Amino acid sequence: MKATVVYVSKTGITASLAEKIAEGLTEGGVEAKAFSYHDIDMDWMTESKTVIIGTPTYYTDAAADTTAFLETLGKYGVAGKLGGAFATAQYAWGGNEMAMMNIIMHEMFFGMLVYSGGGAAGNPPIHIGPIKIGSADYDWDALAVDYGKRMAAETIKLFG
Ligand SMILES: Cc1cc2nc3c(=O)[nH]c(=O)nc-3n(C[C@H](O)[C@H](O)[C@H](O)COP(=O)(O)O)c2cc1C
Repeated sequence: MKATVVYVSKTGITASLAEKIAEGLTEGGVEAKAFSYHDIDMDWMTESKTVIIGTPTYYTDAAADTTAFLETLGKYGVAGKLGGAFATAQYAWGGNEMAMMNIIMHEMFFGMLVYSGGGAAGNPPIHIGPIKIGSADYDWDALAVDYGKRMAAETIKLFG
């Protein structure tokens, strides 16, 4: 089973978190690859049961490039796939949750099933999706790997 992680990234932070999520998915038993939004392997994405989308937070929302990409999601045949969202930001109060909710709204619009990877899944709690905050010291990479493993478990539960 396959999964796709798509990211927008200007300075590489969101890209590196995407790689960690893909690592967690693969460790969890779902073969995953991460792609920049303008370099997606269409066959891989079409064959993927799960598609997770990440963005930097710009002006307390998803970056404009992310929104533009989200508006094209329909052409990737995502209806019925499992979806997730992640975001990076400089500040914990800088709008990362609104950026993720923007992604989730678009995933819902295009008929995806969405999962946060958390709440009831124990520690670390993940309420909407994993994040990385530039100004806060935390093991964000480990959070992303854990999230990837949880998304893998959910993928296998739904589609395995
Ligand atoms: C134009 C611009 C707007 C930004 N706006 C916010 C913001 O509103 N809140 C915040 O916490 N960080 C903001 N940031 C910081 C980025 O979200 C953060 O550095 C992010 O991790 C960059 O990701 P990237 O390296 O993948 O491009 C902004 C950065 C830029 C360049």
